[in-house]
Amino acid sequence: MEIKIYPSRLEVAQHFSEFFSDLIRSGEEVHIALSGGSTPMVVFEELAEHYRERIPWARVHLYWGDERCVPPVHEESNYGLCAERLLSQIDIPAENIHRIKGEDPPALEAGRYAAMLGEMLPRKYRLPRFDLVMLGLGEDGHTASIFPHEIKLWDSRNYCEVATHPVTGQKRITISGKVINNAANIAFLATGAAKAEKVKEILQQQGNYKNLPASKVSPRSGELYWFLDREAAREII
Ligand code: 6PG
Repeated sequence: MEIKIYPSRLEVAQHFSEFFSDLIRSGEEVHIALSGGSTPMVVFEELAEHYRERIPWARVHLYWGDERCVPPVHEESNYGLCAERLLSQIDIPAENIHRIKGEDPPALEAGRYAAMLGEMLPRKYRLPRFDLVMLGLGEDGHTASIFPHEIKLWDSRNYCEVATHPVTGQKRITISGKVINNAANIAFLATGAAKAEKVKEILQQQGNYKNLPASKVSPRSGELYWFLDREAAREII
């Protein structure tokens, strides 16, 4: 595990974007699962502004680690945010964008997306393998859309599950723990003081960490990176 701490959210985005770009240099097709929420917004803007020509987007396949069960044009759509801030700004083939169809019946879409992952992704240890899974950290210790009250979804035998937001009841589609931990690389991005307590609990294995889905992230590859700003890291520095 490598913990990278930068002074600001923007610098987190800048350094993560360089890390993202370096991963793609391999020359092969690269399969990346994006995270949702607001943190990635600044990353998408950085990639759109400074990596439009620097990344061979035709070799990049983009997926989502989770999606809200809303239409793609809905303000809460993870795909919609990415389309607005990044996809509309770069020359990436439409067939390389593998969005979760939040507008479709959740259980059906979870099954469809799981089957697609099984077909599209390279395999390792008999499981679909992303080259990179990008994850955010919720203030309650959730990651992707696996929340503490449904932590059992982490150990699902399925590649994807239907989850429920604990406060709003909103349905979500999420990839499961075995797909997340089979990734070649996992990058957590967490910024802001509101994440500091959970960052400390998880990284120092304190308090209630065993009941936090984010503490179950432990890639078999060993390649786990935390990109933090000073505020999110303030309890561990
Ligand atoms: C989502 C995410 C979720 C997110 C965290 C952090 O769909 O909301 O995938 O896991 O990464 O909730 O969200 P923020 O970046 O908005 O704090």
